[in-house]
Order: sequence, then structure tokens, then C-alpha cells
Amino acid sequence: MLELEKLSVSYGPVRAVNELSLRVPSAGAVAILGPNGAGKTSTLRAISGLVPHGGAVLLNGRKLSGRSPREIARTGVIQVPEGRRVFGSLSVEENLHVGMVAGRGRERRFSISDVYDLLPALARMRGRAAWALSGGEQQMLAVGRALVASPEVLLLDEPSLGLAPAVADRIYDTFRQLKGSVGLVIVEQMAARALAVVDEVFVLREGETAGAGAATEFADPVRLARLMIGVHEDDAHPAS
Ligand SMILES: Nc1ncnc2c1ncn2[C@@H]1O[C@H](COP(=O)(O)OP(=O)(O)OP(=O)(O)O)[C@@H](O)[C@H]1O
Ligand SMILES: [Mg+2]
Repeated sequence: MLELEKLSVSYGPVRAVNELSLRVPSAGAVAILGPNGAGKTSTLRAISGLVPHGGAVLLNGRKLSGRSPREIARTGVIQVPEGRRVFGSLSVEENLHVGMVAGRGRERRFSISDVYDLLPALARMRGRAAWALSGGEQQMLAVGRALVASPEVLLLDEPSLGLAPAVADRIYDTFRQLKGSVGLVIVEQMAARALAVVDEVFVLREGETAGAGAATEFADPVRLARLMIGVHEDDAHPAS
């Protein structure tokens, strides 16, 4: 289980995340939704040790806070960053070999051939340089690279951003297949696909937790949009 206890992130005077508490059960799936600047990426970067934070991050009761990004990755908390940064000059397969490094010393959960089974497009392009992949293919590679690192929890930062709908659907099919064997923390601005996969939702707005609950409670897109932009039900339906 991954736990955030009153996680806060500040950049100088800017408080990007304010006392966010959440739990991701082992192999459970949660979404963190929110508009631009809500603090979603800051939350994931804090979990991964890439920015300092207040409060605590724990994996299976052990504190991750204060450890280096490399040590945190070695515990099995693996981030797929916003903008799918793959090594452009390396081939698809070489990128996957690099990804395996973070999984060393732990039980191997996905081999390169498992990744090719899950994402067959990658198998067809295994020898191609990553720079020559489309955006969607690069996102698949970024997910594949995270999988060969034997994740206990995958942190996915806007995995559908900028992708054609059919490609985004394909990526989410993969998450659905992973659900139940890997913990998933999915950050998105566009909620619909994420809502179909996760159990629990946290809505962030300007660093504050604007809403939290079961995914089914967030099925109404109008209500969700109001939560994200901070319009209260009462404001939306003024008494006449
Ligand atoms: N390195 C930084 N230095 C200063 N302020 C930052 C830095 N990174 C983020 N911020 C600020 O922190 C706040 C939260 O940013 P964050 O990137 O976490 O938001 P986000 O929810 O991921 O947004 P988006 O959907 O646009 O990716 C914003 O006000 C942003 O301007
Ligand atoms: Mg972001």
C-alpha cells in the first residue's frame, strides 16, 4: 500500500500541494484529477523523490520521504513522466533494457517479452530509434519501460495527453489489463478514461483536495467539472 500523509509541496512562496492525504491499496487504482496547475505533477514528483515535500510518503508502512529518486525507484514506485521522456537515440528494445535497471534486486514482474505481448506495436518496432516513434508509440514505450522496472506502483502523469482518442483508448486498455497486479496512480485532466479504470478519485484544485471518493461518485461530468473549477452546486443553481 502507498500512503500519502498530509503531503505538501512548495516552490519558494508557491504552495503547489497542501496536505494531500490518500491511500493506494496494493494493486489498487486511484486517479488524481484536476485542472492545469492543480498540483498533480508536483504530487507525483514528490512521491518519486524529485521535489522535497512536507508530510510523509510510505510504501507498505516504510517511509520513502527523504530517500533519493533512485532508491525510491528501487522500492518499486515507478513514474511515467509527463511528456513521455524516452531516450530518443536508443532503440525501443534498448530503452526497455535501460528500464530494467530500476528493477534489479527485486522479483522480476514483467520481462521484455511480456511487454511486447501487452503492447504488440512495440514488438514490431523493437529495432527502431525512439525518436522515430509517434507520440502514442512513445507513450507505449514509456509505459513498457516502467513495466520492466517491476513496479509495485506505477505513477502515470497524463498518459493520454496529446494522443488521438483511439491511441489513448489503447493505452488505457493496457492499464485495465494491469489493474489488480500493479498499483496505479493515474493523473489526468480529462477524466472519462481514468474513471473507467480506477476505484477511487481525488480531485485537486490549486493544491487543495476539492473532492474524494469512489469513482462511481464522479460519473457526472458536470459535477466533476464544477468541482475542478470551484463552482459550488449552490452557485450553479441560485434560488429563484
Ligand atoms: N519548478 C517549479 N517552480 C515554481 N513553481 C512551480 C514549479 N513546478 C510547478 N510549479 C507551480 O506549482 C503549481 C502546481 O504545478 P503542477 O505542475 O504540479 O500542476 P499540474 O496539476 O501538474 O498541472 P498541469 O495539468 O498543467 O500539468 C503551479 O502553480 C505551478 O506553476
Ligand atoms: Mg502536470
